[in-house]
Amino acid sequence: MKALSIIALLLCLINFIQCTDLEINTFYIFTKYRMFYSFNTTTGLPIKSQQAPKDSNYYFYGSLSANAEKNTILFLVQDTEKQKDGLLEYDIEANKFTPLNFIEDCYGGYEFPQVWAYDEAYNFAALPSNVMNDETGQLSIFVWNFTSSELITNTLQTGPLNQFAPAYPVGSYDPTTGNYYIVYVQNEKQFNSGTTLIVYNMWTQQVVQQPVYFDILFYAPAVDFVNGQLFFMETSAFGNYQIYTVNVQAKTVTLVYTIASGKFKIPGNLTSIYGALKNSIVLFSSATANHFTTSVMDLTSQMIHSAPAYASTTLDIGYEWISGGF
Ligand SMILES: *[C@@H]1O[C@H](CO)[C@@H](O)[C@H](O)[C@H]1NC(C)=O
Ligand SMILES: *[C@@H]1O[C@H](CO)[C@@H](O)[C@H](O)[C@H]1NC(C)=O
Ligand SMILES: *[C@@H]1O[C@H](CO)[C@@H](O)[C@H](O)[C@H]1NC(C)=O
Repeated sequence: MKALSIIALLLCLINFIQCTDLEINTFYIFTKYRMFYSFNTTTGLPIKSQQAPKDSNYYFYGSLSANAEKNTILFLVQDTEKQKDGLLEYDIEANKFTPLNFIEDCYGGYEFPQVWAYDEAYNFAALPSNVMNDETGQLSIFVWNFTSSELITNTLQTGPLNQFAPAYPVGSYDPTTGNYYIVYVQNEKQFNSGTTLIVYNMWTQQVVQQPVYFDILFYAPAVDFVNGQLFFMETSAFGNYQIYTVNVQAKTVTLVYTIASGKFKIPGNLTSIYGALKNSIVLFSSATANHFTTSVMDLTSQMIHSAPAYASTTLDIGYEWISGGF
């Protein structure tokens, strides 16, 4: 029995078998020009590479969720003709968009390649951001409320954000508590070369964790809150990816995992290489210029499955913006 489990562990480590029932089996990329690419995160092989329909006037902000059974992705978009924001479902197999719920307003601010908050039960999507053209702008949470059909801005008393920081505000939403874990970079000299965490409850609209400063700066930050544990991640396509556990009380972070990357031919062509779903995350990496790998990590067990590298000299993903896993 013991020998068997050791063999199983060894096989896991060299990635022969799928070790845990990972929640993510597919990594996808959706570009500015609506190219859709997906990869099998077990085998590392491409599943789809297709041009999505271009006939309608949508601007894509980000993706909110995906449904593995239906093979669909839910995007938050702006109908640029009607100036209304709403939900657009993408059927991958049929390669077809279906407009769902639209609100009577549209967003004019910044959004970055990042994971969005989406609460199906409470019927809203949300995003932490800088306010456009406002040098003294504080952290603002924008809420697309599909019940009241309006876009709401909740500005928190964080003091001004650093507009020139490499990082931008990102968050991780916990739909079981309504808590939104958000990191940003303050403008104040003493704190502008590190990361600040704030936790805001979307249901009660109250700050439930006052700002906590960490002495670490990320270029493409990602946050995930899983099973009572907070994680910070560096996901910049220009280097290796790093995954840290966060001790909020002690205001410290601990590096738990590094994924070798940073060899994309043109890293600027890949602005989002990350996805999160339930307890798992997925990262798309390149250990050499012509090898692409997906790694799925279960943050609860910290088990990782890196797919065998997919070798291609022709894969040219550009103007990439939205990515995710399902
Ligand atoms: C990935 O490939 C494996 C092995 O061929 C297959 O069993 C699995 O269904 C594939 N998953 C997806 C999401 O395509
Ligand atoms: C959305 O609007 C409804 C109806 O006005 C309100 O009850 C609810 O609290 C709003 N949700 C958020 C997250 O602001
Ligand atoms: C990748 O970036 C380069 C330089 O910015 C650009 O010329 C090229 O067209 C991009 N590739 C794609 C597929 O967009």
